[in-house]
Amino acid sequence: MEFDIKSYIARNRAEIDEALDSLVRGPDSPPTRLMEAVRYSLLAGGKRLRPILMLAACEAVGGDRRRAIPVACALEMIHTYSLIHDDLPSMDDDPLRRGLPTSHVVFGEATAILAGDALLTDAFRLVAAGGRAAGIDSAVICDIIEDMSAAAGSRGMIEGQALDLALEGRRGASLSEIESMHSLKTGALMRTAVTTGARIGGASDGEISALASYAVALGLAFQIRDDLLDLDAASDTGKAKGNDARRGKSTYPGLAGVDESRRRMTGLIHEAVARLSGFDERAEPLRQIAIYLGGEG
Ligand code: IPE
Ligand code: IPE
Ligand code: MG
Ligand code: MG
Ligand code: MG
Repeated sequence: MEFDIKSYIARNRAEIDEALDSLVRGPDSPPTRLMEAVRYSLLAGGKRLRPILMLAACEAVGGDRRRAIPVACALEMIHTYSLIHDDLPSMDDDPLRRGLPTSHVVFGEATAILAGDALLTDAFRLVAAGGRAAGIDSAVICDIIEDMSAAAGSRGMIEGQALDLALEGRRGASLSEIESMHSLKTGALMRTAVTTGARIGGASDGEISALASYAVALGLAFQIRDDLLDLDAASDTGKAKGNDARRGKSTYPGLAGVDESRRRMTGLIHEAVARLSGFDERAEPLRQIAIYLGGEG
């Protein structure tokens, strides 16, 4: 039977949504304005792509995907924090996210900053406590914390965000500068999604590095796709359109044009799939996720 990627994504997304919901609605969750802001952004929807990649990578190496769910939720919390801060007036000054007014518009800037801080910090508590409860070995939890914090921090996503701001309004950024920025601000979290899932699944070093190269290609393709979608008034992203041009962002299509950006994105999707050649049918979800994202963009 042919693999149905849409239902795979829908199934996994529903499972992640349910797990996130119980994390921030449970009895442990105080009824404060801060937690209201956390819930507002975290439960607003979103494709849940990074947690789905984590579960798929765990499956690809023969692991039990259920053990990866708490850590997958933690990564979605880190991603959501990055979106709240990315939208702030001093960053991209965006009014709309996941189909709703942005956090700072609804709760004010200070609470939006704190909601982001809470999500980032609580995510690592969840990796430790949720990972332990799921039966992940302590040494593996340590490796995961190192991997995820490196991806999110000053040598990963945050450095990418800093480059994004540095390239704002600057004409003449080169394609290689844009690719480095994209790989850091977006690719880094996608890479750790996949390598973390593989670690939870008990992958060998060789498997982890093959899966990392899949995710690096996919992450760059995904940010080129995001740049293209910002130009496409007809696409339904739940975000305001044309914000990149308004902010003078250095984007892939801004420098290379739409056609070349599509070509580059398609080439990267093929590259991502090719990196999985050493894996068997258990990597089919990872292959199909890449093809699906490439086809939609
Ligand atoms: C948006 O990520 C930010 C980028 C890194 C491009 P997503 O497109 O995955 O956003 P959600 O999670 O579905 O809202
Ligand atoms: C997002 O890049 C990178 C993040 C780390 C959040 P963008 O600024 O292009 O993301 P969107 O388009 O606002 O989702
Ligand atoms: Mg941005
Ligand atoms: Mg933005
Ligand atoms: Mg964008």
